[in-house]
Amino acid sequence: MKGTAKAHTNIALIKYWGKRNEKLILPTNSSLSVTLDGLHTETTVQFREDLQEDVFVLDNKEVTGVAYDRVTNYLDLFRHYANKQGVFAEVTSTNNVPTAAGFASSASGFAALAGATSKALDLQLSDEDLSRFTRQGSGSACRSIYGGFVEWQMGERDDGQDSFAVQVAPQDHWDIRVAAVVLTAEEKDVSSRVGMRRTVETSVFYDGWLQSLPKDMETIKEGIRDKDFEMVGKVAEANCLKMHATTFGATPPFTYWQDTTMSLMQTVQNLRKKEIPAYFTIDAGPNVKVIYLPEYEKEVLRTLEAARGVEKVIVSKVGAGISYK
Ligand code: PMV
Repeated sequence: MKGTAKAHTNIALIKYWGKRNEKLILPTNSSLSVTLDGLHTETTVQFREDLQEDVFVLDNKEVTGVAYDRVTNYLDLFRHYANKQGVFAEVTSTNNVPTAAGFASSASGFAALAGATSKALDLQLSDEDLSRFTRQGSGSACRSIYGGFVEWQMGERDDGQDSFAVQVAPQDHWDIRVAAVVLTAEEKDVSSRVGMRRTVETSVFYDGWLQSLPKDMETIKEGIRDKDFEMVGKVAEANCLKMHATTFGATPPFTYWQDTTMSLMQTVQNLRKKEIPAYFTIDAGPNVKVIYLPEYEKEVLRTLEAARGVEKVIVSKVGAGISYK
């Protein structure tokens, strides 16, 4: 009744931004990400007959409150599926992703939790099934089951059976780099959950966002297949800006950006003026991720580290999928 799994976080190049079903976590659009080797969560789940409730320990600290509730509610899904109601678990996680700062720690977190739980219960799930389960913990996490380049296919069904992630290209297909630029370690004001709901319900730009997505998806897949960095970078950066534009059109309007976020976007665009191909993307937080090719690493890192407001730069290669101990 014990399982351990390690999963990496992922960064979306085509963003998931909106749910059509909040309970099952079904998205309004398909999304595409790169799995990152630098940022991961390792989780052990042990179901124990002697426990009266679940216990969740993250980085050696016992977790209570909302984060605890999310984990224990999520374990209920598995208990229900495996007919183990009333059997509680000790969940122990270590995380090297700064929590709630736009780094999708929930992605590696829920992927590792789903993997470890399914091992602990010996469920023998296929990757597809595991991705479906993971989706219900945190949407973007369903892409972290696989390494390389991954698409979360939105699906159409109301029960979510056709909403899961698939690998588009394996880890060794293409050596691109992602620099995660930490501008602030503060907790964000508007969670992705709240931000998505507000934009879906109120943003005057939301329809434009949705309409532009099929073309972005087609272009990025072609770019990944052909290893056309400019094609991939351009569409990823534009997709990110469109996603963030929806927040300006919401009621009340909001943004995840800080002044240093915008100044870093300009720094990246200035790199291109010097013929250095680098593009940015940003999730539901102020931090910026920069994609570039390995041959430009020195120059890109030197520039990012010297930029205003930068606390830390974490470099990742394309990462592997979920693994077990
Ligand atoms: O899965 P969540 O609730 O952490 O939402 C993630 C949303 C974005 O990071 C902004 C985009 C994405 O596709 O990862």
